[in-house]
Amino acid sequence: MTMFKEEENGRAQRFSLHGHWSSRIAFILAVTGSAVGLGNVWKFPYIVGENGGGAFVLVYLVCVVSIGLPVMMAEILIGRRGRRNPVATMALLGEEEGSSRQWKWLGLMGVTAGVLILSYYSVIAGWTLAYIPKSLSGVFTGASAERVEAIYNEFTGNWLSLTIAHTIFMASTVLVVARGVERGLEQAVRFMVPALLLLMLVLLGYAITAGDFAAGVKFMFATDFNTLTWDGVLQAMGQAFFTLSLGMGAVMAYGAYLPEETSISGASASVVFADTLIAILAGLVIFPLVFANNLDPAEGPGLVFVTLPLVFGQMSGGIFVATVFFVLLSFAAWTSALGLVEPGVAWVVERFGRTRLQAAVMVGGAIWLAGLGTVLSFNVLSDVVFLRGTIYQNIDYLTSNIMLPLGGLLTIIFAGWVMCRNSTSEELGGAGSIYRIWRFLARFVAPAAILVVFLRAVGVIG
Ligand code: PFF
Repeated sequence: MTMFKEEENGRAQRFSLHGHWSSRIAFILAVTGSAVGLGNVWKFPYIVGENGGGAFVLVYLVCVVSIGLPVMMAEILIGRRGRRNPVATMALLGEEEGSSRQWKWLGLMGVTAGVLILSYYSVIAGWTLAYIPKSLSGVFTGASAERVEAIYNEFTGNWLSLTIAHTIFMASTVLVVARGVERGLEQAVRFMVPALLLLMLVLLGYAITAGDFAAGVKFMFATDFNTLTWDGVLQAMGQAFFTLSLGMGAVMAYGAYLPEETSISGASASVVFADTLIAILAGLVIFPLVFANNLDPAEGPGLVFVTLPLVFGQMSGGIFVATVFFVLLSFAAWTSALGLVEPGVAWVVERFGRTRLQAAVMVGGAIWLAGLGTVLSFNVLSDVVFLRGTIYQNIDYLTSNIMLPLGGLLTIIFAGWVMCRNSTSEELGGAGSIYRIWRFLARFVAPAAILVVFLRAVGVIG
């Protein structure tokens, strides 16, 4: 059955194709699975490092609470009200709320952002896959910092290895998306998120004893605003969107399968809490080890792939811990990748009347091809820099710092200003104090904050 027919037939059919979340906790796990990924463990530490630490972390946390949380609630409530894929939902609600079907463009921007993000996300996820056999082989055991760095440079310098790893990751994502296995996804996340949390706590114990914990904590939490530029503030805001999977319709798509009675604010708060906890833990594990081993916190995308293997190589049972870690991180990346590709697949099925398999192969193929740009950014084309840097850096900047905040801004404006009060309060469980706080954040605080950061970062306002 194609999604096209299913869309025409509306909600009942849609439920029968995808199923709906078996419980409140299943929904929370699925959104958490999309939120928790490379963004927490790989990206967060490296951009904190590049932006000088504490002040960046503080801005990030403020963005998560004052922008991320209300935008997440907005996306879920829009998704649940529309009960369709993000493009169709935005068109439908735009009309229903007396505005315009042109809001579909917001959905389409989300589809595009998902495709662009996954093009590089898959490459980095390929690194985590490749680090599983590397860990198992014991190459990190007792290795020096120079050796671990050399292994990383050798690996990323080889475009063929990166392409193979990227291909394996993309192929497995396409397979799962094509078959639409929500059941399997639910089970994977149910196990993966708690396991990752547990492993991070074990590593934290190690970082406290073997790392320079005081220096790490100081770097993460001592706020020196002199080190932070407006571009850094934009990056912190972009990271808040990225890590919570917001601004591109992924959470909206998941919200479409949410039962009426589930509390949106409660579910959102749980996801935001779990996601933030894992990111902060990742920082608290990585920075003490960076300082104890005289590594550079501003090392960039390789930070996690150098710091952690170095430490795994020094601990007893390190081969086991390293393998488990990269397996879990690959799982985390994979559950996030499903969220990134789903809006695109749903859209192709509906717009071009394709089967799910055809759509997954088409969208996945395009993403794979675009991913080669990122593959080459780390080797053959590493010297080709323009605008914001390499091809990878440009795709990253465009998506995280422009498309996601813009998508989030339009989403929150839609929920706060276009949708009528009755619609939103119905979805958010009545006009109590939580609703009033949400509406205030959604109408004033979040849009103003996003706009100001945007305009200052591009230098429109001084
Ligand atoms: N939130 C994911 C992460 O932090 O790794 C990335 C992501 C997944 C972004 C899914 C957007 C999305 F729809």
